[in-house]
Amino acid sequence: MTDELLKWRSEFPILDQTVYLISHSLGAMPRETYARLNDYADTWATRGVRAWAEGWWDMPVTVGNEVAQIIGADAGSVVMHQNVSICQSLILSCFEPTPKRNKIVYSELNFPSVMYVYEAHARDGRLRIETVASDDGITIPLERFLEAIDEETLLVPFSHVLFKSGFLQNAKAITERAHEVGAMVVLDTYQSAGTVPFNVKELEVDFATGGSVKWLCGGPGAGYLYVRPDLQLQLQPKTTGWMAHEAPFAFETELRYAPDIRRFLHGSPSIPALYAAQSGYRIINEIGVQNIRKKSTRQTERLIELAREAGFVVTSPQDTASRGGTITIAHDDAAAITKELIRREFIVDYRPGAGVRISPHFYTSDEELELVVNEMKTIRDTRAYAVHETAGAAF
Ligand SMILES: Cc1ncc(COP(=O)(O)O)c(C=O)c1O
Repeated sequence: MTDELLKWRSEFPILDQTVYLISHSLGAMPRETYARLNDYADTWATRGVRAWAEGWWDMPVTVGNEVAQIIGADAGSVVMHQNVSICQSLILSCFEPTPKRNKIVYSELNFPSVMYVYEAHARDGRLRIETVASDDGITIPLERFLEAIDEETLLVPFSHVLFKSGFLQNAKAITERAHEVGAMVVLDTYQSAGTVPFNVKELEVDFATGGSVKWLCGGPGAGYLYVRPDLQLQLQPKTTGWMAHEAPFAFETELRYAPDIRRFLHGSPSIPALYAAQSGYRIINEIGVQNIRKKSTRQTERLIELAREAGFVVTSPQDTASRGGTITIAHDDAAAITKELIRREFIVDYRPGAGVRISPHFYTSDEELELVVNEMKTIRDTRAYAVHETAGAAF
């Protein structure tokens, strides 16, 4: 069988040196990123301050439009920020909790940084957090999640795909339930965008946020925030700055919010990160997430089969429709095995409770799946991992 997507391998330098199976953490850098960062430096060097008016100032919106294509949003409904944590703070700053609507509902398997944001805001007693428990550390029962969302719920910040286990949550059902009771959802699409196809408009989510470090191969510093178009003008974020002003260069002493998505910006943007990230978005948009998912599904199924044949226990969801692009493999010494794999140039990672996380992406060959499982088996059978027995997560 020919794998059309393998033609992209030559665009990713690290694939020549390693078996790179960690796109759930840091996607491989496209060769084009060198050129984009060079463009950035050239523009600064030759255009100087004029660069702001010649494109830099608008980049949080123009680059956001490229992300919009990936997540099924309209142009003008996505802005770029540094990361998901700041986007969550910014969203929360749009709301005033009242004694009747002050509850935040999320699951205990939410990404911790997101929980820290809500926890910190809840300290003054104006917000309450209800944490939905997992029975197995891998999945969250949908019914339990839906029951926790009630008339007192203000916001439901939840991950589309759980970072630890790869469990794909039912975003449509959670959003419908939230809307039924007058709550809003914040969908964290970090672990789905670029590997699981979805459309924020079809899901009818109020907000979506993610970053570019992982499946989008865009590198650090390029987080994105989608706000439902009909909601935009109703909100006035308190986390703000001059980029959110209708006329920033009028330097007025009072804030007048921009009448569009720009009101969700704050201060000066991270321009180099936006240049770098575009190289990843362009490749993802060219290939199409549907095509990436098709290959990912085939390869994650193959990985499960290989892992089982080698006598490993797979902890990520068995059913393809319930997982994203990651497979997790349990072992008592998973952290030490991971460390030894990395030493041997097999780049994967480890998360407590889940085990070794392995993620093929569109640039992964089928041979690499066999190589990694064989290597894990050898490391286990020879106990070569024993030298790392005190290992934890390294990145
Ligand atoms: C689901 C999810 N959300 C958020 C983050 C990161 O948040 P931030 O962009 O604030 O670093 C990650 C991974 O690092 C993640 O997997």
